[in-house]
Amino acid sequence: MNPETNTGHIIEQKIDSLLTRMTLDEKIGQMTQVRHFDDISEEDIAGKFIGSVIHTQGPLPGNTAEEWQAKFRYLQEKALSTRLGIPLLFGVDAVHGQNTFEGATIFPHNIGLGASQNAELVEKAAAITAVESQATGFNWVFSPCIAIPYNEKWGRVYEAFSESTELTEKLTRASVQGHQGNLEDSHTVMATAKHFVGDGATDFGEEGGETSLAHEEVINRLLPPYKAAVEEGVGAVMASFNTLSGISMHAHKEMITDTLKIGMGFDGMVISDWKGYSRFGENDIINAGVDMVMAVDGDLEVFQNGLKYAVENGVVSQQRIDDAVRRILRQKFRLGLFENPLPDSTLVQKLGVSEHREIARQAVRESLVLLKNQNELLPLDATMSKIVVVGEHANSTGLQSGGWTVNWQGTHENYEGATTILEGIKNAAKGEVIYDANASEKHDDAQVAIIVIGEQPYAEFFGDIGHESNELTLTLIEEHQRYVDHYRKPGIQIVVVLISGRPMMVTDEIEKSDAFVAAWLPGSEGDGIAEVLFGAYGFKGKLPHSWPKSMDNFRGKYGPNFWDESIKPLFPFGYGLEY
Ligand code: BGC
Repeated sequence: MNPETNTGHIIEQKIDSLLTRMTLDEKIGQMTQVRHFDDISEEDIAGKFIGSVIHTQGPLPGNTAEEWQAKFRYLQEKALSTRLGIPLLFGVDAVHGQNTFEGATIFPHNIGLGASQNAELVEKAAAITAVESQATGFNWVFSPCIAIPYNEKWGRVYEAFSESTELTEKLTRASVQGHQGNLEDSHTVMATAKHFVGDGATDFGEEGGETSLAHEEVINRLLPPYKAAVEEGVGAVMASFNTLSGISMHAHKEMITDTLKIGMGFDGMVISDWKGYSRFGENDIINAGVDMVMAVDGDLEVFQNGLKYAVENGVVSQQRIDDAVRRILRQKFRLGLFENPLPDSTLVQKLGVSEHREIARQAVRESLVLLKNQNELLPLDATMSKIVVVGEHANSTGLQSGGWTVNWQGTHENYEGATTILEGIKNAAKGEVIYDANASEKHDDAQVAIIVIGEQPYAEFFGDIGHESNELTLTLIEEHQRYVDHYRKPGIQIVVVLISGRPMMVTDEIEKSDAFVAAWLPGSEGDGIAEVLFGAYGFKGKLPHSWPKSMDNFRGKYGPNFWDESIKPLFPFGYGLEY
């Protein structure tokens, strides 16, 4: 909604009127985001004039969706009880469905949606995520991640759509439209384009590291998706943990204010990332253009007192504060929160419903990329007398869903409402289906072994390859390699289904198998995989990343523009076989 339009003009007038009445404490309060538990007592929501509440990892707001809504309704009423009655924004890391609520519909992570290349589908998935987020009390999601990953070693490759700027641009538009729709409706949410900018292009793929790309490349390859998000009216942009040519992105005035706000005409709000204030230069980040601060985990006092002192001493101008508050209030008006501050209780019944799951299942089917299909082994003949399914990933909805599922780091357990890959195979096959979790049995009479292997769940730097917190590699663990060898026998044909958040170095396993499918992190509807393996649907997915061949030729920088003639990927971007 353009401030130039009539409604836009009225909103600006309302903001003017609020700004003239607000004290400095009230303004700094608006710029503050806290967690709903340990950062603040519920009474402080009013006392400290808090602008927003975040929910992510940590104690749940309640046991049921009704309880979640009730908790946020209670906090909202505290905010409305203040002198000016400015409503709160409730933000959540709903990055593939409302993944913080067990029982919600969980979509494939963005890398799988990237493989689908289907903008209409991405829009539907985002719209469902919005409904299910509102059903649990949120009016704001920290999604989509529109990074361009350059390096498979980065632990967040799967949060982004693709290494292709053009594809990311297209899916970003769809995602923003899907989440935000007509923003005033009770079933839509404000979206966040993140992490601005260079998160996926750090040296060595290090989360929060240094991005040393040439400025031109930042402009040509990383910024276009942001421009698309801004054109679609995205409400928020989140600053990134990385540095860009040595300057912390949180404190990067040239990028945040000059490029994003002035250059692209972004009139929404810039939110810091986790503890951005104390981590990235305190008032420098406000002066650079950060409007709201995630003042979590002990940062509340540091931020509120620090900023107040800075304003009183001329380090941060009153004008900058007013601009930040204006941007925050503008989004609250656009969301219609002043008229309808409370969540719609009728939405609770939409959580995890079958219509939502059907779209998620479609997304699973369309995300699958067929990398090999020797002698047209696939589609499998459902009347085969015996199939053996191997691997713990086949029987765990937690493992098939990756990080940001129920918990920040994901879960290894089955979770409510989700269907395993094995269940799907059992439904589709007409003959005997045996499950041999860790290839410890002998089934020489099986005609096919479907081996489901891949990565364990991880999120953020826990997924960085080379990080001291883990021993991850881009190759499969030996145990999983053994599963394939165990079933390499005359008479048994091997289908490998790879569950991973990124392309992996699996050249050997591809060679040893008859058919090989990259399934990414499909989420709750694991049965979508069998629907394609058995031919009820065809393969549609195309690689959203070029696929590296070996550690030897892994340079860490991939993408259409990065291949020199001597280094070829095993499969190029866009590769994918069909029936
Ligand atoms: C992540 C963000 C996320 C935020 C809030 C940060 O650590 O980088 O992507 O939105 O936490 O949970």
